[in-house]
Amino acid sequence: MNRTELERIAKAMVSQGRGILAADESSSTIKKRFDKIALESTEENRRSYREMLFTTADIQKYISGVIFFDETLRQKTREGVPFADHLTKLGIVPGIKVDTGAKALAGFPNETITEGLDGLRERLAEYHKLGARFAKWRAVIDIGADIPSAFAIDANAHALARYAALCQEAGIVPIVEPEVLMDGAHSIERCEEVTGAALLAVFDQLAAHRVHLEGMVLKPNMVISGKKNANRAGAQAVADATLRTLKRYVPSAVPGIAFLSGGQSSAEAALHLSLMNQQALPWQLTFSYGRALQDAALTAWAGKAATYGAGQAAFGKWARLNSLARSGQYKEGMDAQAA
Ligand code: 13P
Repeated sequence: MNRTELERIAKAMVSQGRGILAADESSSTIKKRFDKIALESTEENRRSYREMLFTTADIQKYISGVIFFDETLRQKTREGVPFADHLTKLGIVPGIKVDTGAKALAGFPNETITEGLDGLRERLAEYHKLGARFAKWRAVIDIGADIPSAFAIDANAHALARYAALCQEAGIVPIVEPEVLMDGAHSIERCEEVTGAALLAVFDQLAAHRVHLEGMVLKPNMVISGKKNANRAGAQAVADATLRTLKRYVPSAVPGIAFLSGGQSSAEAALHLSLMNQQALPWQLTFSYGRALQDAALTAWAGKAATYGAGQAAFGKWARLNSLARSGQYKEGMDAQAA
């Protein structure tokens, strides 16, 4: 393991003023996104959509890394340049989702374990050759009446740490993503409790697996009320609870934390990040958004050649607003004024 190189890549991923675009939707997830704009999910439509995002003017000012799905890492621009090479030339680090999804955890109803460890060493070697310098693995923790169990949290933390160790062996920076879902009706307090338990288990396992903390990036959920909660906590409460939890459980050796958006609106996600970045922090605090960076772009584009530019403008706008949030400068309502 070349620790210096891992540290250099991790620092580039969380560099000032920039964040990560999660464009690693699996074939089934991108189909759901395309269904909303009544676009067929063909390989060419998926390629064309990703090309629209990756060739938006000036994205290197706001975007430090892009997470690909396997298919995307093998695709090229219209001019025949592999997407990974196109982004690398712009100073954007290409990454790859390597887990194979969250599957039902036997014996634990309504809980999942993320799969993908078998053969991972060989896959990572190939991804490195194709230009990927970081990877992502997402563990999913759902909140319900009797869940999560301590067992499911531990099993997922163990798998995340095995993945992270294999990545570092291959010279690839692991994004470690334990996602506590915001789908339920739970309170922000319950989210804080579960997020804390998940982070405690994850950093325990990362230490046990000898993962080099300076050469990784954490991708957590924000501490937030469930979507179906009738009395959801406000933005400042989300920022405060999230920072309190991260400060308790995330060592300052970790260079950066890049949040998932998890179903928050684009404006909510930007505001939360901005409020947190108004405080003094031991790590870089940035974004690794999928939906919050792409929703407006997908709607504006709608799969048509005539609105390709409108799609790029919408993506560029949210990339820029989140870049402002990196230094606490995004303010509520800015999105309505921004072009
Ligand atoms: P969202 O920001 O849409 O939650 O996606 C981020 C991601 O990569 C989830 O694994």
